[in-house]
Amino acid sequence: MRDRHFELIELSAQWLREVERVEQACFSAPWSRAGLESDLLNTTSHWYGAVDQKTGRLAAFLGAHIVCDEAEIVNVATFPDYRRNGLAKALIRELFRRHPGLTQVFLEVRDSNAAARALYEKMGFSRYAVRRNYYENPAEDAILMRYQADRRALC
Ligand SMILES: CC(C)(COP(=O)(O)OP(=O)(O)OC[C@H]1O[C@@H](n2cnc3c(N)ncnc32)[C@H](O)[C@@H]1OP(=O)(O)O)[C@@H](O)C(=O)NCCC(=O)NCCS
Repeated sequence: MRDRHFELIELSAQWLREVERVEQACFSAPWSRAGLESDLLNTTSHWYGAVDQKTGRLAAFLGAHIVCDEAEIVNVATFPDYRRNGLAKALIRELFRRHPGLTQVFLEVRDSNAAARALYEKMGFSRYAVRRNYYENPAEDAILMRYQADRRALC
């Protein structure tokens, strides 16, 4: 991956097929194409992507819903071949860069998802609640995490 360069862009619905490809490669219960399309078109949604400049393919994405100074990250994924290259971290930073007024950002993550939990903790999120048996396929608790502006990590 050392020879790869990535462009961070805001994703429109034109990227639907690529978002779906990454989504299907990353989740045991992926969002449907209709669900992804509806969210990409939602006026409160902001989806960002890392595009591999060499292939033009989408390597990673982040989707968030933003209302005033609060956001909820609803989806984040990095295609398996591209993991541990800082792309998810770069996309979270991009969300903050493009929306500097955000004071709180929420998300939920599977209890067993050590990689995602480590990513969010590194980016300054902390756990504030648990939602029992929230997920299916397999059934699992959701860990609710929150970033607050004054606690943001300088990483
Ligand atoms: C979680 C996920 C998005 C991380 O994407 P990524 O682009 O590989 O993450 P980054 O390279 O930006 O990693 C940033 C930091 O997160 C942590 N991290 C990421 N993957 C990790 C892993 N497998 N194990 C431990 N820590 C990990 C590390 O602290 C890492 O920093 P470092 O590489 O300097 O040590 C990716 O593993 C993925 O797509 N997983 C499947 C989908 C998913 O679970 N999405 C989240 C739903 S809540």
